[in-house]
Amino acid sequence: MSDIAGKVAWVTGASSGLGERFARVLADAGAVVALSARRVERLQALAAEIAAAGGRAVVVPMDATLVADIRAAAERIEAELGAVDILVNNAGISRQARLEAFSEGDFDAVLDTNLKGPFFAAQAAAQQMIRAGRGGRIVNIGSIASFRTIGHQAPYAMAKAGIAMMTQCMAREWGRHGINTNAICPGYIKTEIGGEFWGTEAGEKLVASLPRRRLGEPRDLDALLLLLASGEAARFINGAAIVADDGLMAF
Ligand SMILES: NC(=O)c1ccc[n+]([C@@H]2O[C@H](COP(=O)([O-])OP(=O)(O)OC[C@H]3O[C@@H](n4cnc5c(N)ncnc54)[C@H](OP(=O)(O)O)[C@@H]3O)[C@@H](O)[C@H]2O)c1
Repeated sequence: MSDIAGKVAWVTGASSGLGERFARVLADAGAVVALSARRVERLQALAAEIAAAGGRAVVVPMDATLVADIRAAAERIEAELGAVDILVNNAGISRQARLEAFSEGDFDAVLDTNLKGPFFAAQAAAQQMIRAGRGGRIVNIGSIASFRTIGHQAPYAMAKAGIAMMTQCMAREWGRHGINTNAICPGYIKTEIGGEFWGTEAGEKLVASLPRRRLGEPRDLDALLLLLASGEAARFINGAAIVADDGLMAF
């Protein structure tokens, strides 16, 4: 998997949680990493830590709900680092409400961040990959909610189901360019997206209902990310949505 070294990797949602971890893992593997999100100070701190560990990262602020922002970020990365080789399409939010009470604003925020943004980030990255003519790897971040309902988060699950289909569409159309598109679909992992929930009674009840009564940690996805981001090792993997959920879907 050492062929990640020297590649240009763009990680969206790199300011916390899984994205921050993905950025560190790719930098450790020798990729030059472009860090995108809205909280710029967080990205700057991460870039400094990556540099201190001997890696290279640049901060490319972006609001993933704005297509113009996504395109500007992609252009900046290409100008500063060269064409994107690896995109980790990770930025995402969650909003909770019962179906009958879901507001239009929250619906739009979830769909724009979790489905429209990833589509246009992948498009911008793939345009560069196609022009550069050396293929690439797109890793979309789905969820167990790509395949099953979760309580009071219908638009989130609808968007994540869209990510699974988007992954197949991209695999089908961009495979001929040497671009492999796959999705990682995690189960419950403790990050900021869960907010205070895991400390509440309802959160503890949910953990107690999980097959091994535990949450995952961001590092639990390291190997899957490295596999799907690699050139040779992922050669024959295209259009897959791989669940990493500690057995939850099987329960
Ligand atoms: N944790 C889990 O249990 C779990 C399970 C399945 C799937 N996922 C998925 O994993 C991905 C990462 O989530 P996480 O768990 O790491 O949560 P997190 O800690 O809340 O991270 C979310 C990231 O997305 C970024 N983001 C949100 N809205 C954005 C916007 N409009 N523009 C740019 N960046 C934006 C945030 O950065 P800024 O706020 O700085 O912009 C942050 O870096 C999401 O797609 C999530 O749906 C998580």
